[in-house]
Amino acid sequence: MNGIDSFYIKSRIFTGKKALSQLAEYSGCRVAVVTDGFMVSSGMLDQVLAHIGECESTVFSGVKPDPTVEVVVEGVGVIAPLRPEVVLAVGGGSTLDTAKAIMVSLREMPGFERMELVAVPTTSGTGSEVTEFAVISDAAKGIKFPLRSEDLLPDVAILAPELVKSVPPKITADTGMDVITHCIEAYVSLYANDFADALVEKALTLACKWLPVAYADGADSEAREKLHNASCMAGMAFNEAGLGLNHGIAHAVGATMHIPHGRINAMLLPLVIEYNAGLVDGVLYNEDIADRYAALTGILGGAKFPARRGAQSLALMVRRLNHKLGIPATMEESGADLVKYGNAISSMARAALDDITTTCNPRIPDFEDVEGLLRCLER
Ligand SMILES: NC(=O)c1ccc[n+]([C@@H]2O[C@H](COP(=O)([O-])OP(=O)(O)OC[C@H]3O[C@@H](n4cnc5c(N)ncnc54)[C@H](O)[C@@H]3O)[C@@H](O)[C@H]2O)c1
Ligand SMILES: [Fe+2]
Repeated sequence: MNGIDSFYIKSRIFTGKKALSQLAEYSGCRVAVVTDGFMVSSGMLDQVLAHIGECESTVFSGVKPDPTVEVVVEGVGVIAPLRPEVVLAVGGGSTLDTAKAIMVSLREMPGFERMELVAVPTTSGTGSEVTEFAVISDAAKGIKFPLRSEDLLPDVAILAPELVKSVPPKITADTGMDVITHCIEAYVSLYANDFADALVEKALTLACKWLPVAYADGADSEAREKLHNASCMAGMAFNEAGLGLNHGIAHAVGATMHIPHGRINAMLLPLVIEYNAGLVDGVLYNEDIADRYAALTGILGGAKFPARRGAQSLALMVRRLNHKLGIPATMEESGADLVKYGNAISSMARAALDDITTTCNPRIPDFEDVEGLLRCLER
């Protein structure tokens, strides 16, 4: 490190009831649309495209959850002939990440001018609309690898909470817990700073208040709007501060066991809080990290406990929230194939240690540590 810190926000964010009307800007352009089958069959894509009006467009709707390299290659093939000026991503994190990977692949090809990337998230979870990450899976190797580059940052993010109202409760819970994990990991990251902290403190307060409301009543406009804002703010925070071991393990388990990203993050979160603060192994108790967790407990309205009790209290709050949202506590409870899980523990531990998000974790884990956490998650 050279003693210089920076905080960079590139994406222009449009919010509010008329946010989608910003799309009229692209009227008359060549627009490549990246989306998934649900957006097409539900009519939501037409609802979004109506705001552009006349344009020359090609739609690639082949995105699947946890997108693979093959999906990206297919998308490039569908979209390249249009020579788009704009790549418009409409969907959840899987769609936004696919669009990012398609766009950087197109830019490698000769003759492609600068394209604008416009992200319209339809889940409140990943914050991908403002991050320089794209998580792509290698199905053959059974791994998810987060790509990171400033070239992946969307130019424009349009937050239209009305598009999130159709998200069913289970996906609302999973994606909402992804937001909470982004907040908590960014706050204790090795690269945490005052700017990211400010975003985390607001995003976490909003998410903890409004996620249970949106889960109980998906049509609640205020809850959807607040959760959507929280998701975006958490994305801005972790884009600069980084994430941690929770995401490193979640990528490894998600790729192997095919558990939704937010759900596996949520299941791991109390265990990783306890591990990072050294609450389980006592001797490795780390007061500084525990203190950061305790600060978050205070922000969330919990009693002002000293470090150790504050961190314990945060882990308990997460367990209670998971329970309220119907998120299982263990792999056994989730109904996963425990034989497959048991056999994959070593390879998942290695993949988690190799994941770039793990490098920001405040406690440096070794193989036995990660293996231990994966065993705790088992049953
Ligand atoms: N780029 C980043 O910064 C970043 C950060 C965290 C996670 N991720 C990645 O993002 C992916 C997860 O994204 P996600 O959690 O948003 O889920 P997702 O995009 O995989 O979508 C999950 C499901 O929700 C459906 N869906 C999406 N919008 C809907 C709507 N409005 N109504 C009804 N159904 C809807 C989708 O069709 C899909 O079936 C993972 O691959 C994860 O690793 C990326
Ligand atoms: Fe995430």
